[in-house]
Amino acid sequence: MASPESFDRAAALKEFDEAKTGVRGLVEYGVTALPAIFRHPIPRLRHSPLSSPILSVPIIDLSVPRSSAVALATAASRDFGFFQVVNHGIPLSLLSRTLSAVRSFHELPPSVRSAFYSRSTKTGVNYSSNVDLYRSTAASWRDTLQMVMGPTRPDPERIPPVCRAELLEWDEHVVTVGRVLMGLLAEGLGVDAGSLEEATCLEGRVMVCHYYPPCPEPEMTTGIAEHTDPGVLTVLLQDDIGGLQVKRDLEGGESVWVDVQPVPGALVINVGDLLQIMSNNEYKSVEHRVLANSNQKPRVSVATFFNPGDRGDSKFYGPLPELVSADKPPHYRNFTYEEFMGTFFSKQLLSRRLVDHFKF
Ligand code: OGA
Ligand code: NI
Repeated sequence: MASPESFDRAAALKEFDEAKTGVRGLVEYGVTALPAIFRHPIPRLRHSPLSSPILSVPIIDLSVPRSSAVALATAASRDFGFFQVVNHGIPLSLLSRTLSAVRSFHELPPSVRSAFYSRSTKTGVNYSSNVDLYRSTAASWRDTLQMVMGPTRPDPERIPPVCRAELLEWDEHVVTVGRVLMGLLAEGLGVDAGSLEEATCLEGRVMVCHYYPPCPEPEMTTGIAEHTDPGVLTVLLQDDIGGLQVKRDLEGGESVWVDVQPVPGALVINVGDLLQIMSNNEYKSVEHRVLANSNQKPRVSVATFFNPGDRGDSKFYGPLPELVSADKPPHYRNFTYEEFMGTFFSKQLLSRRLVDHFKF
């Protein structure tokens, strides 16, 4: 039965959503206190109390000889589940142009950007605040422009003109980097370098362009709540504000949050749940989050989630057959992409991790 409080919350969520201008709209309106729908029950531990070299996310120079790149990317994916790459071949000017274009979209006048606001992903392009607004216990201080770039691209006319050229160009370059990384990570597993690409893992791409406005009470909320990424691999471009943190388990069962420091020109790479499964637990999909922005300036990031493009009901995903043997039994059963994503979207908040649903 709904309590009066939850009724109020439902109404407040609806009002916020129907304004169609996101968290940025609240900031424009001049809010000085955090609205109740964003208030998290438990204050967040913002920074890791410890710091040591084993607690910083590895930075890998992709211009080193290939065998070194394979070793470094593989070690980072086994251990941290996260790393940064530099000398990845994407022109640095495109990195900054892409971030500026996304910032410009989110800073369009309210009446212009609200025309793109929708929770429907039908057209492949939508702007909204909090993908899980009606499902989560507390909203996060973030707005997002999302584009489904593959297996089929949206009609370019649907992409906001202010960032259209940049995001299409960004997608092309991200595919190139994704191909390189999947090659390195496949080789590190001892399978054919083309295995992940052959499994269509470069084809299904979702690009999310996040905007984290300055938050009036950052201790009371979050930018993105703790989660793992469901797909194969994520390539993320972040600006210089910071706030992304990765969970790191220490010996003795304790875990700490480690900052993913902004590095000029770098891209942040992380293993998703599906790659953890396909690698039969060789690579780790690790929890991460973004703190609510305590800066004066907004934070912008652009993440591309790589997923398989082949989604037929006769195409099964699971541990790569080459990795399974009598000594190394599969940790997961096989499933279709539809079953995988259906489980992802129906998963209750705070329930088991996605990978656990497919464990033997
Ligand atoms: C995500 C994510 C991190 C960021 O979109 O899944 O983890 O820095 N984003 O925006
Ligand atoms: Ni993520």
